[in-house]
Amino acid sequence: MGKVHVLDHPLIQHKLTLIRDKETGSKEFRELVEELALLMAYEVTRDLPLKEVEIETPVAKAKAKVISGKKLGVVPILRAGLGMVDGMLKLIPAAKVGHIGLYRDPETLEPVEYYCKLPYDVEERELIIIDPMLATGGSASAAIDFIKQRGAKSIKLVCLIAAPEGIARVEQDHPDVDIFAAAVDERLNELGYIVPGLGDAGDRLFGTK
Ligand code: PRP
Ligand code: URA
Repeated sequence: MGKVHVLDHPLIQHKLTLIRDKETGSKEFRELVEELALLMAYEVTRDLPLKEVEIETPVAKAKAKVISGKKLGVVPILRAGLGMVDGMLKLIPAAKVGHIGLYRDPETLEPVEYYCKLPYDVEERELIIIDPMLATGGSASAAIDFIKQRGAKSIKLVCLIAAPEGIARVEQDHPDVDIFAAAVDERLNELGYIVPGLGDAGDRLFGTK
């Protein structure tokens, strides 16, 4: 079973509170989502393997550590996941970026795919799927399906706010995937929105609606 990691760092919690506030406008919302993604990248990459190398400092030869193992890939779920890409890349600039276009049908709440473009060597990479909201879990589960179909074997899911329903769905469909969230909220409302959540992440990021 994949683990659920709730990232309780004070900076993450503080910034999360600011984006929940309905008075926070799009400019500030975008900046905060980017900062949150950067802080979460730090936690999500905590288990990356290291290897020892020999270098020469201005003073002496030294054995030192560098990251080894699989290369990374970041896969935002369009559109709201785009808001987290730059923050992630600030910490892991060598990561390749794939895109998965999905929207949630407002009636059925089922995900509808409209785009998928991934790095060609996806099976050799550790992939980090990013999306601010994990609500019913339909979008995240479908996104994981797509990238598994293309050969990916190592996948993590990073979201800002998760609903218990979304966590249960991903755990059931993809027990090999670890979930990282800044908060696990109470529930979904009748429209499938996370309560208390932050509203529609895409609309708040891009100023639509
Ligand atoms: C939002 C969000 C997730 C999805 C979560 O996207 O960014 O992708 O809903 O809901 P789920 O867990 O119930 O599938 P939305 O479908 O609103 O599309 P958008 O990003 O294009 O606005
Ligand atoms: N998608 C969002 O953007 N917000 C929610 O609360 C649920 C799904």
